[in-house]
Order: sequence, then structure tokens, then C-alpha cells
Amino acid sequence: MTDLLKIRGGKPLEGKIKAAGAKNAMTKLLVASLLSDKKCTFYNVPDIGDVEITVNLCREIGSEIAWDRKAGVLEIVTRELKTSYVPQRYSGSNRIPILMIGALLGRTDEDIIVPTLGGDLLGMRPVDLHIHALQKLGAKIEYRNMKKEGAYFAQAHQGLDGAVIQLNYPSVGATENTVLAAVRARGTTVIKNAAIEPEIVDLILFLQKLGANIMVDADRTICIQQMTRTFEVEHTVLTDRNEVASYAMAAISTKGRVFIEGAEHLQMIAFLNKIREIGGGFHVAKNGIEFFYDKELKGGVHIETDVHPGFMTDWQQPFVVLLTQAKGASVIHETVYENRFGYASTLKEMGADIELFTQCLGNKSCRFASQSHHHSLVIKGPCTLKGSQIVIPDLRAGFSYVMAALLAPEESIISHVDYLDRGYEDLTGKLSSLGADITRVPLPKKHLEKAKASLHNMVAAQSKEPCAPNY
Ligand code: EPU
Repeated sequence: MTDLLKIRGGKPLEGKIKAAGAKNAMTKLLVASLLSDKKCTFYNVPDIGDVEITVNLCREIGSEIAWDRKAGVLEIVTRELKTSYVPQRYSGSNRIPILMIGALLGRTDEDIIVPTLGGDLLGMRPVDLHIHALQKLGAKIEYRNMKKEGAYFAQAHQGLDGAVIQLNYPSVGATENTVLAAVRARGTTVIKNAAIEPEIVDLILFLQKLGANIMVDADRTICIQQMTRTFEVEHTVLTDRNEVASYAMAAISTKGRVFIEGAEHLQMIAFLNKIREIGGGFHVAKNGIEFFYDKELKGGVHIETDVHPGFMTDWQQPFVVLLTQAKGASVIHETVYENRFGYASTLKEMGADIELFTQCLGNKSCRFASQSHHHSLVIKGPCTLKGSQIVIPDLRAGFSYVMAALLAPEESIISHVDYLDRGYEDLTGKLSSLGADITRVPLPKKHLEKAKASLHNMVAAQSKEPCAPNY
């Protein structure tokens, strides 16, 4: 909770930025590198908080790392594991420590300990699918309550054996954890109903260079053979489709024009369809995508978030802000997380016309149909947003607040900027270069207590419903 952002909106964003490497790929690639004792070199590494946390975590485990942040190049080699105990301070830091189980099971037959918060401030964040899949490979895993918090104890003293694993839901993390363990399991592992997000494909590309044989079928089946030899790897991290979509929506909503170098068409199909449906402009060029305001934006769209290749849950929050500038009513049905509309109350305070529903407002019933979570919303536009004092509760909500502030002519003051730092490289620099009136200042002491209290209240209200993601 170190700094504040001051934003005075009402100016179109114009210019060119370069997309960063993907947070949700780079963090996993670092963990995957622990499977081998060979050097791995990564390019296009984003300089963000979540990579820093993962780098520190890998160093604790025994990795030697050289990271040239400016050049975006990172070299990692883990000749020997110093420990297979993830220190407690990483518990709840992000979603990465739980993936250490899969990677370390593939590297060591020692006991592995990964502490976790049972239910953190923002919800429980279940990992049942991870644990069941790893157990199916022969790992012994149990959760033990310890003094301050619990920990997963895992081991495969006799090694792992390939198996057929059917995931009840194509979870990104559970698929990654299983793939990481399976590359070292004897024989062949088949994951059915696996997640096939671009970041997972990037992980698979890396593992193939490392020495694995992995096949991905169109029907969500991933087939992994035991890796018997490893090689040095050079890998360029794929572009962050969340960052691309975030700046795209900021550009269109502010009636601006922004070229995003490195934006990849293939990852953005579902997003571009919705941009076109509301009348937003884009042009796919040789080395990136330009996004621009073309004509009056029209609502009347229906968006159902889904696993890839559907419309990403992480695009949903800024898209709602974009829809505040579109004429007509639109419906959003969140089917990935049951509690991802916590940010809506702040947008309403800023002037957005949003109504929340517990029903599935869509063509299909989702997993949350019989539960009481607000997971559908109706947004009516256009509305005029006004500046406000805002506390960020999580990464994607944070960007949607920044976008709302860029639309409000009055000054907004945004605190808990460290959430944004975890996923957006040089946010202030990039927005300033596009003409935004944005400054970052240290949080004055008198605001600190207020911000803490306000965050605490927001979180307490949200944590009554499980599973809100905080990254
Ligand atoms: N789930 C379970 N049991 C499990 C695992 C997941 O019930 O064992 C549920 C979750 O509660 C959730 C759903 O399955 O309702 C999706 O979770 P998933 O495991 O797919 O997501 P994740 O691996 O925890 C990653 C990204 C998220 C992104 C989701 C969906 C990382 C570090 N995080 O989370 O990214 O929203 O996939 O695409 O890769 C973000 O970047 O801001 C972010 C939240």
C-alpha cells in the first residue's frame, strides 16, 4: 500500500506502446524451469511484481537468477535444490506457490511443503482439482494445520506414474500443476478436459524445448510422455493478452487511438469480436494491433466469460467500464468465478448504471446457477463518470478503476497501487506516454489508515462469498 495514483481524466489516449510479456505465462515458466538443472534463458520478461515474487521464491529453492529488467532478459539455472520447503512468507502471495508442488514432485523425491492460507482475505480459492490430479499420479498429499496457517505436505518417494486424469472443470492452474508433475512421471499421462489457454500452450512449448513430449488435441486432451533428458532452453515469453485488452479498452473508451506493438491476433479473437459488436475500431497490422474510437459505441451485447477460447474473465471488468460509454443495455454473465463483480459498487459510486443478479443471465446455466452469488450484471449506458477516491481490491478491478478515472474529468485518487504493479509493467509511464494526466505519489501517512480500513471492509464484505481471485 505504498503509493497513490492521481488521475484527471477526460483526455483521449493517443500514441504507441509495446505490449509486455504475459504475467500468467512467465511466472509458470520460472516454476517449470525448476524441473531441470540446465540453464534457461527467457526473453520478453515483464518487469512486474508477480515475476519478482516468483524470482525470489525460486532463489529460495536454489535457483541462480540473472535478470536484466530493462532488456527483459532473465537467465535461471537450478543446479541443485537447496530446499523443497516453500517459506511461509510466500503463502497467499499469489497463485504460484501451489504450482511448486507439481514442479518439485518432478524434481525431487524429498518431502515438499507448501504453506497456504486456508481461506485468504478474498476467499478460499480451492485447489481440489490440483490435489486430486497429483494424487492420481501417485503423489501422497495431505493438508496439515500448523501454528499460524496450514500447509500442503507432498511426496512421491517412489516417483510418479502416468495416469488418465479427468478434470471436472478445465482449470488453468490444475492443468499446469498436472503437466509439470506428469513430465517426470513414468509412462504416459493423459489429461482430459484440460485448460488450453495460450499461456498453457506457451508452457508446453517451453517444456518441449526442455525435453518433454507433449501433445495437445482439439478436444481438450493433453497427452504427456515421461521426459528422460533435459536441454538448455531459450524461450520468448508470449505477449500479455490481458495487458493488450486493457489498453485497447482504455483507448476506445477515451475516444483515442493506440497502437499496441506485439499484440497477437490469435490470442484476441473473442475479444475483437466483442469490440466489433459494440462499434469499436481495430486494425491488425504486421507487428501489432491498433485500437481506436470509430463511431458512437452501442451496447446491447451479451458477454459470457468462459475458459479459452471464450471471452476471458480477466477482460470482463474493464469491458464493463467500456460499456459505460456505449448506448443501450448490455448483459455480462461471469461463469468462471462466482464472485468477480466486487468492483461494481465503486463504479456505481462513480456514476455507472449497473445492476447485479444472482441468476445466470444468458443462454446457458453455469456452475453457479443454484448458488446465491451475484455473477450476472446489466450495465446501461452511456453514463458520465465522476472522479473519486478509490481503493483497489485486486489486479483487474484495479485497471477498471484506472479506466473509469481516465473517463472522469475530475481528479481521482487511487490507492493500493501495488496490486497494479503485480501485473502491469510501468503503468504510469505507459499511460503518461499516451497523454494521460496521471501521477504517482507516495501515500501520505494520514491516508494509510483510511485506505487500510476501507480495504478491510471491502474484503470482509467479499469474503462472505468464497473464491474471489485477487490476482
Ligand atoms: N477451481 C476449483 N478448484 C481448483 C482450481 C480452480 O474449483 O482446484 C475453480 C476456481 O475457483 C475458479 C475456476 O476454477 O472458479 C477457474 O480457476 P483456474 O484454476 O482456471 O484459474 P487460476 O489458475 O487460479 C488463472 C489466472 C487468472 C485467470 C484464470 C482464468 C494465473 C496466475 N491466474 O487462475 O488470472 O483469471 O486462470 O483464466 O494464471 C489475473 O491475471 O488477474 C487472473 C486472475
